[in-house]
Amino acid sequence: MKLYRAAFMHTPASPFRQADALHTEEDGGLLVDGGTILAIGGFSGVRAAYPDAEVVDLRGPDSSPGVLLPGFIDTHVHYPQVRVLGGLGMPLLEWLERHTLPEEAKFGDAEYARAVAGEFLAGLASHGTTTALVFGSHFAGAVDEFFAQAAASGLRIVAGQALADRMLRPELHTTPERAYEEGRVLTLRWHGQGRLLYAVTPRFSLSASEGLLDACAALLSETPGARFTSHINENVQEIAVVRGLFPEARDYLDTYERAGLLGRRSVLAHNIHATGRELDSMAAHRCTAAHCPCSNSSLGSGFFPLARHLAAGVHVSLGTDVGGGTGFGMLKEGLQAYFMQQLMPGGMPLSPAHLLYLCTLAGAEALDLQGQTGDFSVGKAFDAVHLSPLAGTPLSAVMEHAQGPERVLAALFTLGSSADVRQVWVGGDTVYGG
Ligand code: GUN
Ligand code: ZN
Repeated sequence: MKLYRAAFMHTPASPFRQADALHTEEDGGLLVDGGTILAIGGFSGVRAAYPDAEVVDLRGPDSSPGVLLPGFIDTHVHYPQVRVLGGLGMPLLEWLERHTLPEEAKFGDAEYARAVAGEFLAGLASHGTTTALVFGSHFAGAVDEFFAQAAASGLRIVAGQALADRMLRPELHTTPERAYEEGRVLTLRWHGQGRLLYAVTPRFSLSASEGLLDACAALLSETPGARFTSHINENVQEIAVVRGLFPEARDYLDTYERAGLLGRRSVLAHNIHATGRELDSMAAHRCTAAHCPCSNSSLGSGFFPLARHLAAGVHVSLGTDVGGGTGFGMLKEGLQAYFMQQLMPGGMPLSPAHLLYLCTLAGAEALDLQGQTGDFSVGKAFDAVHLSPLAGTPLSAVMEHAQGPERVLAALFTLGSSADVRQVWVGGDTVYGG
């Protein structure tokens, strides 16, 4: 049994629904046994109740102004796109053709796939991300290698083979039959193994025939507990092409809906240009929109209508969208979400508690993992990130003098980065630092 002593903050409820959702403890105690949280509260109270527990004091020798947060949950991030990060200056379809698809074509090479899998998983852990919904490679061998390394990393990873059978480039195309067969092998090998889960992952309707979407539906229905993820309504040009390819569909969402791919465990990335019908239907199916504000800014895709999603009852989480986005940092993603809502007409003002929720519990809920992770409630796994700025940095100065926990949290989102990540745990196991 370990008793972690630190200032901590978490959101065991949604601040979009509950005004007092942010829970904080300036001198907190978190009791962990076998990777599970057994007790939480003020340090002295937990200490008195469990006097024999080994105390792990995270405050440092000088009681540095660190904070323990639930591990971040990134609900949209691409494994084979680490090396295209920073490709600024293009809208989606041009960026795919010129930067990204040529890079993804390299993953037929096992050595290449292995090297990038390591870079990708290190990128997640070093930024404090403990759970991620990962778009895989189009090559089954690369996805297999990725899962093997993900298992060794200790992170919670939900991932799948990216699937397409048209309009990308020949090396990246499969057939419905092959997609199904390779998917069966991957799901049987990895789904439910340790902290790994499988996500059925057609890239987007633009590159998926109806036959391929039907194969996805078959794989999904034959894999209990599998998740579904794809892209939707990201870019106006993309949407126009999809409309032409699916003349029978009512809208973009309907291309997935008709195939039977939508449900409580479906996560659709972007959804910037959503219609009212699409939002109502997503709410009815209880799917999630993964908002990726850095990517939306970088690719000039548009402003995410957060207020419309929430008003319609659509669940929203956050994703970095590496490599259309700007890196693995979920703090940066939260800040960019805040900026965009500040700037857009009809934007929703976001508090630091909203940002923390979006980076943690909202992601767990998107993945239907809220029973295991997302906050520090008793019974959940100890998935955590310890953020502690170096003395002398602006973040350290602001945190030391901050008036109250909301100011500390705002400073973390504004000034924090991977440089401030000291240690990261998943299920009580250290996966970074320490
Ligand atoms: N739509 C289809 N593929 C992609 C991708 O790789 N990144 C983004 N942002 N959108 C996509
Ligand atoms: Zn994406």
